[in-house]
Amino acid sequence: MTDQTATITLGDTSVDSPVLKGSVGPDVVDIRKFYGQTGAFTYDPGFTSTASCESKLTYIDGDEGVLLHRGYPIGELAEHSSFMEVAYLLLNGELPSADALAHFDNTITRHTMLHEQLATFYRGFRRDAHPMAIMCGVVGALSAFYHDSTDIQDPHQRMIASHRLIAKMPTIAAMAYKYSVGQPFIYPRNDLSYTGNFLNMTFAVPAEDYEIHPAVERALDRIFILHADHEQNASTSTVRLAGSSGANPFACIAAGIACLWGPAHGGANEAALNMLREIGRPERIPEYIARAKDKDDPFRLMGFGHRVYKNYDPRATVMQKTVREVFAALKVNDPVFEVALQLEEMALSDDYFAEKKLFPNVDFYSGVILSAIGFPTTMFTALFALARTVGWVAQWNEMISDPAQKIGRPRQLYTGPTQRPYVPVDKR
Ligand code: SDX
Repeated sequence: MTDQTATITLGDTSVDSPVLKGSVGPDVVDIRKFYGQTGAFTYDPGFTSTASCESKLTYIDGDEGVLLHRGYPIGELAEHSSFMEVAYLLLNGELPSADALAHFDNTITRHTMLHEQLATFYRGFRRDAHPMAIMCGVVGALSAFYHDSTDIQDPHQRMIASHRLIAKMPTIAAMAYKYSVGQPFIYPRNDLSYTGNFLNMTFAVPAEDYEIHPAVERALDRIFILHADHEQNASTSTVRLAGSSGANPFACIAAGIACLWGPAHGGANEAALNMLREIGRPERIPEYIARAKDKDDPFRLMGFGHRVYKNYDPRATVMQKTVREVFAALKVNDPVFEVALQLEEMALSDDYFAEKKLFPNVDFYSGVILSAIGFPTTMFTALFALARTVGWVAQWNEMISDPAQKIGRPRQLYTGPTQRPYVPVDKR
């Protein structure tokens, strides 16, 4: 709280609202009493100027291109940490000791198996079902199988549900891939790392062992770190809103997966690689930049632009570096990377993108790497969901354990018909 107030005058009513100050970032005007004091709502569709909650998890400075998880810069976490360590940090608030990390890692490992009956759930989908359709369905169904961890008022059950969700997402995602290619499901293995286990469940076959390439395991683990959490983005806000009604955590994460699927959000990584492949070669880039600038053309550069970042997305910086590492390790020479690099260079030298502060975001390069590793584009958003489950679960826990938490229930600006009498059908 500060001693500052913000005064809004509406007709002959003047209202002073307290100004609250965070540890860093913009102050907020506390308008919780505004409607009661004035009879008017504030209006902010898209929430461009609205703080929906108080949080201690992730801080973004969009102008400076800063992303902190519990105060630690994303570049340092990507360089020095692991996805499991970042998961512990987001859930618990501090970096773990070596013993605490080993215990957490072991706990997660022992929750990676799925109830065997869930394997039959996949049989209900067409083989060509989009993996995100499967993820929505299977994750939502988890509450039918793990009902012993759905009492959200019990901190112990909340912790078990959190561990189950983080642990089982790789298994569910890998099974979605296996089902789509008609290969048998591969069981989790407790002797592998979180990311190594996911690679093995995805690419191993019973006929022969799968050799996990260390550079690929490291690169994918780093990609998971880059996607772990991102403040109050659309899918995290969906998880919080679903959780505010008291819905069980599995249902809330399924709601987050559904929201993430959209091409304006997590679906952009699949759309970005499809766009790069459609462009095909550098000579065609000007045509697509012209389309992105054309008001009459709905085409947008996928993987470009961001609601918060009006500078370079710090995750895209790490992602571009990781492309080079994976390409070198796998001796890949996919021309799509050159198209991406030249598209970025041409767009960033164009006034349209400069004026609108449109830079590459986390989705611009991620697909290039995932494709080089061997994932089909339809799996890209499923991997985003896998990683973002850590953030969703941490944000959900923060919300549920906040004593001030209330059900989210926004109001509206109504512009429909005012009251009118019913007209019988023979009088219309
Ligand atoms: C993610 O919120 C998060 O944190 C999300 C995320 C996370 O980790 O959770 O970071 C992950 O979702 C990244 C964003 C992935 N989406 C895309 O790459 C899709 C392409 N980008 C956009 O559609 C757009 O940039 C958004 C949705 C990301 C942001 O949209 P905003 O903030 O609502 O901005 P806007 O749509 O109002 O655009 C502002 C202007 C418009 O022009 P004018 O109407 O002002 O003339 O910029 C233009 C837009 O037309 N614009 C683009 C553009 N993005 C915005 N023009 C061309 N290409 C683009 N990509």
